[in-house]
Amino acid sequence: MDGPSGTGKSTVARRLAASLGAGYLDTGAMYRAVTLAVLRAGVDPADVTAVRRVAEATDLHVGTDPNRAVVHLGSEDVATEIRGQQVTLAVSAVSAVPKVREMLVARQRQIISEVRATTGGIVVEGRDIGTVVSPDAGLKVYLTASADARAARRTRQDSAEGRTATVDAVKADVERRDRLDSTRAASPLKQADDAVEVDTTELDIDGVVAHLLDLVRDRG
Ligand code: C5P
Repeated sequence: MDGPSGTGKSTVARRLAASLGAGYLDTGAMYRAVTLAVLRAGVDPADVTAVRRVAEATDLHVGTDPNRAVVHLGSEDVATEIRGQQVTLAVSAVSAVPKVREMLVARQRQIISEVRATTGGIVVEGRDIGTVVSPDAGLKVYLTASADARAARRTRQDSAEGRTATVDAVKADVERRDRLDSTRAASPLKQADDAVEVDTTELDIDGVVAHLLDLVRDRG
């Protein structure tokens, strides 16, 4: 499942995985965790060589249970900290570094094949899952929504999690990240040719999940 931020992707992907009894992988959390390590190391996110060095030294662990978000750097739980403003501002620069993508895509493919061998299925969300990470996925979904709807959702999510921001500031950030994510040279955000596009502007979470469950069942 791919798409820009604020489309409800994470909530939908997690709920879909739980309904299917499948695993779940949040690849954005992996890019965010590496970004946190970069910031903690005092490295400039634009310094490609230094970013690469930090990424190579990062001991990252992500869980695949849709009911429990696990993101660890070493033994430290960073699941909350990676959602903060500092990381959100820097993550597009870090995720544009080809070596970082190469490392994380290899990890993602490994996790996907391990989960598929045990639970049988996995819902993976990100920006390049249908195009690069898993081009042979059984179902590819590309979620979209208007920029206003995405900003409103992100703002609600931020305030529910104790972060304060105005809708205008969030909209500017969402649009800034969309621009960076879709224009970068390495694996830009792009709808796969064979992905089903689902516009969530007018749908609530239950409606999107029900629609996706139908799509999964149609694929047998
Ligand atoms: O999904 P989320 O908003 O947490 O992703 C954070 C950032 O990580 C994105 O803005 C993008 O820069 C990067 N990302 C990526 N490829 C993915 C997932 C996320 O480049 N597969």
